[in-house]
This record gives sequence, structure tokens and C-alpha cells, in this order.
Amino acid sequence: MTAIQDHAQPQTEPLTIGQKLARLHQELTPAEQANLKLILGLSAGRLVPAKDPDAGQGRTAVSEALEILCPYEVDDPRGIQYRGRPDFLTDELFGKLLAEAARVGESAVPFDEHYLGCGGPVADAIATSPELAELVASVVPKAEATGIASYLFYRDAGQGIIPHIDTDIFSLNVLMMLAHDIPEGTEQPSALYMHYPDGTEERLQLSPGEVVIFLAGTQAHSRTPICQDERVTILTFGFMPEGAPLENYRR
Ligand SMILES: [Fe+2]
Repeated sequence: MTAIQDHAQPQTEPLTIGQKLARLHQELTPAEQANLKLILGLSAGRLVPAKDPDAGQGRTAVSEALEILCPYEVDDPRGIQYRGRPDFLTDELFGKLLAEAARVGESAVPFDEHYLGCGGPVADAIATSPELAELVASVVPKAEATGIASYLFYRDAGQGIIPHIDTDIFSLNVLMMLAHDIPEGTEQPSALYMHYPDGTEERLQLSPGEVVIFLAGTQAHSRTPICQDERVTILTFGFMPEGAPLENYRR
């Protein structure tokens, strides 16, 4: 059989479950698509080896579907797209953020397994700044700021976040470590983890001032629980695909 004939043949290779899920997504209404994405995201969290050692096949299917549905054009949607301390984060600005976090933290409300505080003037200004947009654009093209900044506080022993995929509003997450109080003698402090389709994971122990950017709507991630007297304060900024319908990106 020649190459040309090969090309003319209809594709007979059976679709993988991940490809079928992605195809199903194309046929749904926007509301149904949001529900399917939610189900896939919840599944991704339950399919890590720690929860179910036999979940390999399901994990591969869910990861493949999520990666096909990834709304960003990057070489590799897995893992961390950026890690470092950006130039715009001067000591002075960092100090202002710490002060704002302390203020916001007083009225932060319990939310899932952490306390959540809305941004403040300092965080909000960064959320829509050209400097942050430039940093994001340098690693993930065509991402647009939602303008939403949130402070997250892990305060009570046991608080953390189980593996999950974020909703559209944080489909690209800029996460800044503000403060991490680690009690003396703690062997394994709380850390951010990335969970990969093959069942492996990556531990990210961030230092204050460090920023990571990752595709939170595609890449499963978690934070391991804090211990007694351990505290973690984080600031996050949500980004969405350029030109995406805004109604899908509200809280
Ligand atoms: Fe998340």
C-alpha cells in the first residue's frame, strides 16, 4: 500500500477513552461542557495513586481528555510553566503585600480546607498590571488577566487541598508564596504538589517571594496538610484564555 493510499484511508485506529471524552465535550452546550470539566476535574483528584493504587487507566484517560481540552497553546501543559521571583516583586512591594495579607486575614472566611480573603488594593493592582501580564505572556501565550486576586490562609492543623483541577476562572494560576511558618523539628513541611498521569508527583517547596505559574485547569495539583502551628499564606491571580466568554469566568 502506498503512502498516498494510506493517507486516503479513513482513520481506523480506535479512539482512546480520553479522545472520546474530548470529542463528547465538542458536542455539548457551554453549560454541559462546564459540568463535564467539573466531573473530569473531580475525577482527577480521586485518581491519584494515594487514593486508589489501581486507578492507572482512569487517570490516563482523564489526564488525556483534560490535556486535549487545554485552552492554552503551550509545548507541554504539564507541570510548572514558570518558577522564580519576578523582577517586579521588589522588597517594598512584597512588604506591602504582607501587610495587606495581615489585614485581609483578619476577616478571611473558612472556605473548603483553608481561609479565603478577597484581594486588596495592592494585590488588585498587581492582578491587572502590565508587569504581571508580561510575565505570564512570556511563558503562556494568549492568557488574559481575570483581575481576580485571592489571599489563601492555611492556619488550622490538617488544612490543605486534596488533588484537584481548578475551574475556568483559575485555568491559569499565578501562585505567590507570601509566608510559610514552619515549626521547629517539622520533618516534611506542607508543600504544593503536581500529580502526573503516570502516577508520579512533583513536590514544590516554595520560599516566600517565589512565584509559580501553572495550568491549574489542566494539571492536577494539591497542597499537603499543615501540621500544628504551621502557617501558609498564599496570594493567587487567575488568568483565562484570551477572548474567552467572560460569563464562564465569574466566581
Ligand atoms: Fe487549585
